[in-house]
Amino acid sequence: MPAEKKPWGGRFAEATDPTVERFSASVHFDRALARYDIRGSIAHARMLGRSGLVDPADVDTLVSGLQKIETELASGEFPFDPGLEDIHMNVEARLREHVGPVAGRLHTGRSRNDQVATDLALYLRDACRAAERGLHDLRRILVERASEHVDTVLPGYTHLQRAQPVRLAHHWLAHVEVLGRDASRFHDARRRISRSPLGAGALAGSTLPLDRQDTADALGFEEPTRNSMDTVSSRDAGMEFLAAAAIAMVHLSRLAEELVLWSSAEFGFVELADAYSTGSSLMPQKKNPDVPELVRGKTGRSIGNLVSLLTTMKGLPLTYNRDMQEDKEPIFDSASTLADSLEVMAGSLATLRVDAARMREAASDPMLLATDLAEILVREGVPFREAHEAVGEIVGHCTREGVDLRALDHDEMKGFHPAFPAGSAELLDLDASLESRTLPGGTARATVRAALEQARSEVDDAWKALDAEPGS
Ligand code: ARG
Repeated sequence: MPAEKKPWGGRFAEATDPTVERFSASVHFDRALARYDIRGSIAHARMLGRSGLVDPADVDTLVSGLQKIETELASGEFPFDPGLEDIHMNVEARLREHVGPVAGRLHTGRSRNDQVATDLALYLRDACRAAERGLHDLRRILVERASEHVDTVLPGYTHLQRAQPVRLAHHWLAHVEVLGRDASRFHDARRRISRSPLGAGALAGSTLPLDRQDTADALGFEEPTRNSMDTVSSRDAGMEFLAAAAIAMVHLSRLAEELVLWSSAEFGFVELADAYSTGSSLMPQKKNPDVPELVRGKTGRSIGNLVSLLTTMKGLPLTYNRDMQEDKEPIFDSASTLADSLEVMAGSLATLRVDAARMREAASDPMLLATDLAEILVREGVPFREAHEAVGEIVGHCTREGVDLRALDHDEMKGFHPAFPAGSAELLDLDASLESRTLPGGTARATVRAALEQARSEVDDAWKALDAEPGS
């Protein structure tokens, strides 16, 4: 495209090299900002009218031209031109086709630098909100599934070794906690996107009497940003979004990993619904957990996206540098990867079949109650380390001799430690063990039921708060 056709073509005598044009174009991805770009431009045009910088009739022309473009974008008719670099210049050039030379008034007192910062802020605000919704939706499903499984018992693991019995509800409520913190990270990040970049110009503001509060109000920001240089050169809202997304993906990946393990024949704890599994093209008997595997796999991209933007930004002097155009693909990719992963995880969990008998069987090894036995001695006044040692010897003995811990009689027990009261071994019972864990955060039935209610109302409140927000 000849340079004079570009919005910045005035000082250029030669056309851009076609390779450079292709290399620098971003419209194939930054079109994701189109609706935010239009919204920002409409707010800017109206402000120009109110500030007396553009004639009211021209403002109307600009706004209706922009609305027409919005319709074209929505219907897929918008003619994207990579020669026009990015979405901002594409929209402006199209506006000129629709309304003629008056289009040239839209960019009054504005640079693509404050424009792209505005678009991105609006995008990130929505992306954070969408992530919060997705996370609370998955939490809601986990709470529902947990409430069906208060009395389903499985081993809790450390080092992937059976450790102590827990309720499945307790296990899933652990993920509900994790995902709640993830949602609050997006909420925090969103709260910080509260100032409007428009009016910062290229880097040093404008000589024109722009009304920055007016555009801030129109776009749902609290106030204008405070420093024009910071405004056009910072991408920490993007970094924060990517960090929150990477952390949330790491958490989804851990949950996914459990589904992969649990659905193996070795565990046999759960079965994924057919709708959330895939088969093998070679082995007819196979049902593969591709969905959780892909969630686990896509976590790598999400982490990469965070590292990518951090690396892009780390050496940049103030203010805007073109390197920053590289912020977008990681952000868009992490947003859609997280949204999709949340959705498929919610579906997988909602439709998951649980084999409660298999879980209980795995939890029924009396050795899982060894800590309880040590605590019986503690209650008799024995120091814990000494109790641990004695029970360790009992475990060693039972393992070597192949005897059930609970079959030891009182004399045998006293042989290991004189403080064992009568009936110690018989006290060891899976359900009694669970029931005795009544501390806050523990796995007793009533404690878990209370935790379920608390989680349920927390998720409900989060939904209500999201629904009550003015739509964007
Ligand atoms: N496409 C550019 C970006 O995303 C928009 C800002 C361009 N500004 C400039 N001075 N060339 O960063």
